[in-house]
Order: sequence, then C-alpha cells, then structure tokens
Amino acid sequence: MHTKIIKIDSADIDNKSMTEAAELIRAGELVAFPTETVYGLGADALNPGASRRIYEAKGRPSDNPLIVHIAKFQDLEAIAREVPRQAKLLADAFWPGPLTMIVWKNDSVPRETTGGMDTVAVRMPNHPVALGLITESGCLIAAPSANTSGRPSPTEAAHVAADMDGRIPMILDGGAVGIGIESTIIDLTEEVPMVLRPGYITTEMLSVVLGQEVRLDPGIIAADSERKPKAPGMKYRHYAPRADLTLVEGAESEVVREINRRVCAARRAGQKTGVIATEETKGRYLADCVVSIGARHDEDAIARQLYRILREFDDTDVDVIYSESFAASGVGQAIMNRLLKAAGHRVLTV
Ligand code: TXA
Ligand code: MG
Repeated sequence: MHTKIIKIDSADIDNKSMTEAAELIRAGELVAFPTETVYGLGADALNPGASRRIYEAKGRPSDNPLIVHIAKFQDLEAIAREVPRQAKLLADAFWPGPLTMIVWKNDSVPRETTGGMDTVAVRMPNHPVALGLITESGCLIAAPSANTSGRPSPTEAAHVAADMDGRIPMILDGGAVGIGIESTIIDLTEEVPMVLRPGYITTEMLSVVLGQEVRLDPGIIAADSERKPKAPGMKYRHYAPRADLTLVEGAESEVVREINRRVCAARRAGQKTGVIATEETKGRYLADCVVSIGARHDEDAIARQLYRILREFDDTDVDVIYSESFAASGVGQAIMNRLLKAAGHRVLTV
C-alpha cells in the first residue's frame, strides 16, 4: 500500500486534504494525525472492522483497548452508559486537552474498540487537525499512538512514517507535537478516581478540580509484576530502545561520576555507549554519544524531546545507554514513568 504523507498547516487547514482524510475514515480506513500529545493512528471508533485494522497495523495485542477521540462533550454522552458528575467538572477544566477519562460504555461502542472491556476511554484532543478530522468525518475516532507496538510514541510525522509506511493510506503531517508524552488517563469507574497513566495533567491538578482524593494506580509504580496495572497497555514493556537503558539517580556530581565509570568500563569491553544528559551536565560525559534532553528545570522541554531521543538512539550503533533521573513530581512523574518503562525498571541509586 502506498502511504500518502500530506503536510498540513494547523493555522490554515487545507480543506481538500481534510476532505480526503475524512473520506478515508468514513470508509473504515486508517489515517495518522497529529494531536497535542503524540501522533495518533485513527479509525472510525464505532466500526468494528476499522478498529481491527488499527490492531493489525500496529501489531497490537487485541486486549489493549483504544482511546475514542471526540470533538464535543455531547459525543461523550452518546457513548457512555451514564456521564459521571466528575466528567463534567474535568471536561470544563481540561478539555480539549491531554486528559483521557474512563467511563462505562453503552452498546454503541463495539468491543473491538475497547479490547473486550465494558468501559471506554474518551479524550477531546486540543489540536485543530485532530478536531477538524473528527468533525469533518462525522465519526468518533479511535486512535492509539501511531507507533508500531513496543516502539516510542511518535512526536513527528517522520516517526509515524518510519513505523507505518506502506501499512496505512495516509499520514497528516502537522509538524512536531507540543507536549510529547501521551495523555493522563483517569478512571472514573472506580469509587475513588484513579490515574492509570500519569501525564501532563497531574494527579494534584485533577484532585483540585474534583475537590476530592485522586489515587495513582499502585500497579504502575511497582517494578515487579505482582500488581498488574489496570490499563492493559501499561503492562507491556513499552518505549524500549534497542540498546540497554539504565537510569542513574542521586546527587548530580555522583551521578556524573558513576555514569562515567560505567561508560569507561563498557568502552573497554568494546561497547558503544550513550548518555541522556541535561544542559547542565552534557559537557561532562565521556560517552561516544551524549545527548541533552533539556535544562533540568524545564520539564516541558524534557517531555517534548524524550521519545525523539529514544528513537534516535535506535538509529545509532550504541549498545548501552545511561540516563540521568528526574524528580518524580508534577510532569516529572510522567517523564519518570516513561523512562522507567523504557529501562525495564533498571535503576542505579548512587
Ligand atoms: O495522548 C494520547 O492518549 C494518545 C493520543 C493519540 O491521543 N493516545 C494514546 O493511545 O496514547 P494508546 O492506545 O497508545 O494508549 C492508550 C492507553 C493504553 O495503555 C490502554 O490500555 C489504555 O489507554 N486504555 C484504553 N481504554 C481503556 C479502558 N477502557 N480501561 C483501561 N485502560 C484503557
Ligand atoms: Mg501507545
């Protein structure tokens, strides 16, 4: 299959391209498109055959449910068994935006879309191309991140093309995304609302808006497999670069020293080494390939660059990567969650 890549200017969307993309969605085909978090691989959410195509293109396990993207709050009412009081509060505060809510589904949503579950994940993205595609197609759009299963989520159209070229008919290229990590997921079917995946909207922000306690799924913090995360997708070893990644945490000077010690040992053993550093430390490492993920205090920049950096390491011949760690609060919690998964929870404390 030939994959058409269409550049689209978010500030001045070309109608002809949008019409073409919308027709593909209506026909049950797949279109990759930008959102504010990461690129999505979209299909008609209420068409079981279209959802099945998503799983095929990504090589995704069929028990891993998809997020349904909507363009207006009434779309949530159309697919939820009932709309919880909290959903309205959160939508007013954060939609359109990087927040996904899990609610009980009604019969209009096929189980192919929800990986067999009775609940459905719903999000209103804050991106003109994503909202335009939903509105123009007249469909609700199921969209996982547009990577092949197991690779880092795409933050640029070129990442989507690297994974999906020849497998889908169209990629809408709206440039680099703004946030760079996937949406926060909050489960509203629990007695106490529970964050199943940390993201740009933090647990504290959710708790303030709801005026109640919000819990973090214990299953996503645990390094062992005893407690399974509730979101099926969080149990897979995701975002893994080809090279072995290890996080090193501790005081800055200790971290630099320990990483350099290990880098030297690895090089003596004939391995190519990489380091994920910060602006503050990038000049102090002895590795073959040192990349700065941004200034330590600028968590937004770190989130935006993380997946690109992990992908770019795959294009090098680096065998082992050491990465600095980040504060596990605020957006840092989401950054550390993704890094820990990429590292298979391999952490050295110095
Ligand atoms: O930012 C995002 O959310 C991006 C963009 C494209 O919107 N999408 C995204 O989708 O990250 P995906 O499929 O890569 O991740 C969806 C996650 C998976 O971990 C999945 O298991 C979980 O959401 N999920 C979806 N529906 C669920 C449900 N009903 N119950 C529990 N977890 C669910
Ligand atoms: Mg994903």
